Amino acid sequence: MNTDLLKKLCAEVGASSQESAVMELILAEIKPFIDDHKIDPLGNLIAHKKGSGDKKIMLAGHADQIGLMVNYISKKGFLYFSTIGGNSPNQCLGQRFVFPNGTIGTAASERLDNPNDLSLSKMYIDIGAKDEEDAKKRVKIGDICVYCTEPVITGDAFMSKALDDRVGCFIMIEALKQLKAPVYDMYFVFTAQEEVGLRGARTSAYGIDPDYGLSFDVTISADTPKALKFPSKMYGGAAIKIKDNSLICHPKIVKHLEDCAKAANIKHQYEILEFGGTDSGAIQANKSGVPSGVISVATRYVHSANEMCALSDIEDCIKLTVKALETAIE
Ligand code: CO
Ligand code: ZN
Repeated sequence: MNTDLLKKLCAEVGASSQESAVMELILAEIKPFIDDHKIDPLGNLIAHKKGSGDKKIMLAGHADQIGLMVNYISKKGFLYFSTIGGNSPNQCLGQRFVFPNGTIGTAASERLDNPNDLSLSKMYIDIGAKDEEDAKKRVKIGDICVYCTEPVITGDAFMSKALDDRVGCFIMIEALKQLKAPVYDMYFVFTAQEEVGLRGARTSAYGIDPDYGLSFDVTISADTPKALKFPSKMYGGAAIKIKDNSLICHPKIVKHLEDCAKAANIKHQYEILEFGGTDSGAIQANKSGVPSGVISVATRYVHSANEMCALSDIEDCIKLTVKALETAIE
């Protein structure tokens, strides 16, 4: 597996609305394998690969990542922020954050009498500025920073920030490279602004008007101490989503993925989530409705600086994607 590419994808800085560097990296990688492409007005990268037949399938993985947007700079030069996507104070505290211009800081908290009072509104980014004026030389209101941990392989697992959802983009890229006989006209969409409400998927689905939708994202790995009782876990294989908070996957697509996994002997498991959503939630509600499903990677510590997933699960997701695109949906 091309883990160097996965490392490059995860290392790229691209919070919601600022995905262009990620899109450029992806485009350079897929260009030899597609027929045409465009970047739409919201910043989605839409790559078209012709298949036999006239039915259209839209594949989606989000290129954006969560981040912190500067909304106030104090006299002392500390940066207060508003959240872009789902950040939690515990995950952020003590972590390093990087801005697109390379400025690095750490997320710290105001002194608290009770540690349970920790909240994002009491936290700030410290970039080592002398004062407000010094800070403003490097950062301005509206700038967004993201975690800056280095992607690494540890044992048989991959650990990085932004695995959500660069691993989904990676699965799409690798599947695209391996495809031999796709049955549908395919639109590989690397979406913008998923983390703030599936926005890029909504507009790109409207433009493409697909017959089927399939997206790729991380889900929880319910195998950590005292984890909630959900069916997906690391090393469990490709996770076939049944539902989350944004969609109930179409039974026809769930069955298609199941049948493909069984026929090709691909290790798989199921995913049910009580919270969270992904691009297929927007795709399914396009125009008159689009049967949609999701292939997920069970991931520990989602939305932290060190998200972790199994290399073998990524491999299983790639295999299942190729098989699913080379088999007609019944
Ligand atoms: Co996410
Ligand atoms: Zn995601």
